[in-house]
Parts: sequence; structure tokens; C-alpha cells
Amino acid sequence: MKIRRHSKDYNFFGDTETGLTMRWGDSINANPEFAPWPELADISISNHCTKGCEFCYKGSTNNNSFMTIEQYEHVLSSMQSEKWGNVFQVALGGGEPLEHPNFIDIINITNEKGIVANFTTNGIHLNQDIVNNIKNKIGAVAISVNRIEELNIDKIKLLMDAGIKTNIHFVLDNKSIYEGIDILSGKYNDMLKGVNGVIFLTYKPKGRAGLDKCLDMDDVLNKFISLIDSNMASVRIGFDACFVPLLMKDTKVNVDYIDSCECGFFSVYIDEEMNVQPCSFANDDRFSYNLRNYDFNDIWTNKYSSYRKDIMQNNCKNKCTNKVNCRGKCVYYDSIAFCYK
Ligand SMILES: C[S@@+](CC[C@H](N)C(=O)[O-])C[C@H]1O[C@@H](n2cnc3c(N)ncnc32)[C@H](O)[C@@H]1O
Repeated sequence: MKIRRHSKDYNFFGDTETGLTMRWGDSINANPEFAPWPELADISISNHCTKGCEFCYKGSTNNNSFMTIEQYEHVLSSMQSEKWGNVFQVALGGGEPLEHPNFIDIINITNEKGIVANFTTNGIHLNQDIVNNIKNKIGAVAISVNRIEELNIDKIKLLMDAGIKTNIHFVLDNKSIYEGIDILSGKYNDMLKGVNGVIFLTYKPKGRAGLDKCLDMDDVLNKFISLIDSNMASVRIGFDACFVPLLMKDTKVNVDYIDSCECGFFSVYIDEEMNVQPCSFANDDRFSYNLRNYDFNDIWTNKYSSYRKDIMQNNCKNKCTNKVNCRGKCVYYDSIAFCYK
């Protein structure tokens, strides 16, 4: 299905079959400031997880806190705009999505609405049965780790053999960064054969993730950054939005390939209790509105316009060539505002 949205300052094209998306502003070379309707919703379908990763920013436990099917349907119908349609894609997280009792129903409901379903998982529960049930229904799956030895290649193979695009979410903290350097140096090329991409996620200190593991602007991080332009990894490499200021400041990565932080501009987060926030990592309630009490259009169009205004006042003093494309310091975490240190 091809999705198109056009207004004077914002144009969007998305192909639900290939996952290809394009966005442009009032001309093909211009970047729109924000989307009149989000392109992506990051939805936490539970806060239940039996694994207990020490880096988990959600601090999820074995607590049976699930978004119900009715709530999930309510979330999707809240995001159905008469003018703009629905979000192009959802990124399902939690909690552990594969421990949600209605996970397959959730994927089916998403597909029925013409929305691309993606999810992140710790991978433990992946098996042939699940793979058969989600085949041809998923944009991409991401497996989360912060240590290479945690990667279960047999599980990843199950996905790849079914033709499901599989990414690795590698959480980058001040310990795992050494393996990050190894990945960029090509040490794990054989192991990662067939993987769609390794996405480095900047470690955020929230939930079980303490401040002590945060990255610091030190020699190790500098070494990691210096390897990006000339990396030897045969797998594709990507970064989360929090890493973007460093990419813009310290690498030669073409800015056309870099999206600044999209949270509240092009994407939105909804938690298992139907609280809407600009970003899943938000560490306060400043821009939190519950779908039981607020209309989604009001949240996106009115309530988040002041959030967007705050962010657009990028008062960074650095003299980067790419400054115009940068949104500056994260409003939630000083600890990962590396450019400011
Ligand atoms: C909380 S997990 C839940 C989904 C699933 N259980 C999993 O392991 O991917 C959602 C996403 O957050 C990422 N994540 C978890 N803790 C993080 C942290 N402290 N900093 C940055 N990303 C984190 C994971 O890699 C995953 O992409």
C-alpha cells in the first residue's frame, strides 16, 4: 500500500510493503520542521518482562502489566485522523512484546489497519511457531543486547530464514562501547552476516539503568566516533537520535542521511497505560497526556507545539557546520548531551 500525505510545508510518501519512506518540505531539498500527523508511534504494549536486563530503562519486571487488546485498539483508533489517515508504522516495545498474551492479535490488528508493525525483543521467546505467525506481517524486528555474547544467532537465523528484516539494537554504555569498537572494526562481520543492521542506542540512565554506566566524552568514545567514517563492519550501521549531535559534529556522515531527534516532531510514544509522551525515554511528565482524557489531535497539534518550540530554540554554542540541522541538547538528559561537555 502506498501512503501519501501532502501539505504546503510537509510531504510524505511511504510504501508499507518495502518500508521505504520519503519526507520533504516545500521543496524536495527542504526538511519540514514537523509532521502535521506522526509517521511513527512507539507503543509500549506492556511493562511485563521476565528477563530483567540490567540496562532496561523501563525497569520492567514480571508484573503482568499489559495493555489490553481493547486499549490497543483504542490507541490505534485515536490516531486515525480524517485528514491524515493513521501513523505509517508502529514500533512495539514494552516490557517484552513476545510475553504479551495477545501479541499475534496485536500484529494482526495493526496490519488490518494498514499500519506497518515493527517490534523490539530480547529474543528469548522467538521460535518457529512465532516466526510462522508473523511472517509477511512485520516491517522489521530488533533484538536488544548490550553484549555480543548475549546474541543468540540461532534465534536470529529463524527470523532471517523467514525473510524477516532483523536488526540488532546494541545498547552503548561505557562498558559495551569496547565491543562497539570491535563491531565497527569488523571483528564480528561473520557472526552478523545476514543481519539488516546494527543500531547503536545511546544508553539512557532511567529505570534499572544507573548513571554509572553512561557514556562519557572520553578517549574511548572518541575512538568509537573516529571509527565511524572508516568502519570495517560489513553489516549496515545506524544510530539512535540521541547520537545525532555527535554524528553531525564529529563525523563526515552526509547530513542528508541523518534525521535529528524525531520525538514529538515526527514520532510519538504511548505507554501501556495510554499515556502519550514525545519520547519513550522521557523522564518527567511535562508533556504527558492520557488518551482517556485527551484527544490525540489536541495532544499532537496543540499540546506538543510548545514542546516543539522549546526544542527549536537550539542555544548550543558549538560552531558545527551542520548546526542548522541539529536540535541541540536533549530536553530530558543532561548526562548524554556530549557536545555540551
Ligand atoms: C525497554 S526495551 C523493551 C522491548 C524488549 N523487551 C527488548 O528487549 O527490546 C525497548 C527498547 O529500549 C532499548 N533500551 C533498553 N534500555 C535502554 C537504555 N537504558 N538506554 C537506551 N536504550 C535502551 C532496547 O534496546 C529496546 O530497543
